[in-house]
Amino acid sequence: MAHKSTAWYQRHANDAHVKKAQREGKRSRAVYKLAEILDQHLPQFAPQSVVVDLGCAPGSWSEEIVSRLNAQGLLVGIDLLPVEHVQGATILQCDFTTSEGQDGLAKALNGRVIDLIVSDMAPEMSGNKLVDQMRMIGLNELTLHFSDQHLRVGGHLLLKTFMGDGFDGFRRSLGERFKRVKSIKPAASRKDSSEFFLLALDKK
Ligand SMILES: C[S@@+](CC[C@H](N)C(=O)[O-])C[C@H]1O[C@@H](n2cnc3c(N)ncnc32)[C@H](O)[C@@H]1O
Repeated sequence: MAHKSTAWYQRHANDAHVKKAQREGKRSRAVYKLAEILDQHLPQFAPQSVVVDLGCAPGSWSEEIVSRLNAQGLLVGIDLLPVEHVQGATILQCDFTTSEGQDGLAKALNGRVIDLIVSDMAPEMSGNKLVDQMRMIGLNELTLHFSDQHLRVGGHLLLKTFMGDGFDGFRRSLGERFKRVKSIKPAASRKDSSEFFLLALDKK
């Protein structure tokens, strides 16, 4: 991970969502982005869902999803980094972009089709805006390819992206495969961050 500046640490320590996450014992402030999206945009989320969480470390999204699943539900997560055990989840430490990562996910799914894919993956920031943008769109495209293979018809895909080169083409590809695509900037997403989320609903 790229080194963070003193200003970043100061802002992090003063951030209301960081404080809330510490108070509530959450692994990351990122959990509030997912909770807002699920509550406001996916109220039909079913407790028996099969969900895949791409880029799941340190595990706050996985914990949130597991808390919404029942015994028939399944959560499979993947990250390059180790993730402390999440009760009720299957977590792989692997690169999603490799065939090892793809095979590992397919094996963990054990033939079950996915109802919802969520991705909070972002590339390691190089500091070069164009390079970072291209890497982000690359991750988005691989996520869409994964969705083509494993997401059920009628399933949903949520992913993080950045506005910039390659975005329009990617957004069009999503629109071809899903009935509806929403752009969402949750309250917990920092205003000065170029990140936002695309929620693609009802795979065709
Ligand atoms: C913002 S963090 C995710 C936070 C997580 N949603 C949570 O709430 O705990 C993004 C994660 O994406 C992971 N990531 C980036 N590229 C990846 C890849 N190719 N394969 C797997 N994980 C990746 C990073 O290691 C990082 O942990």
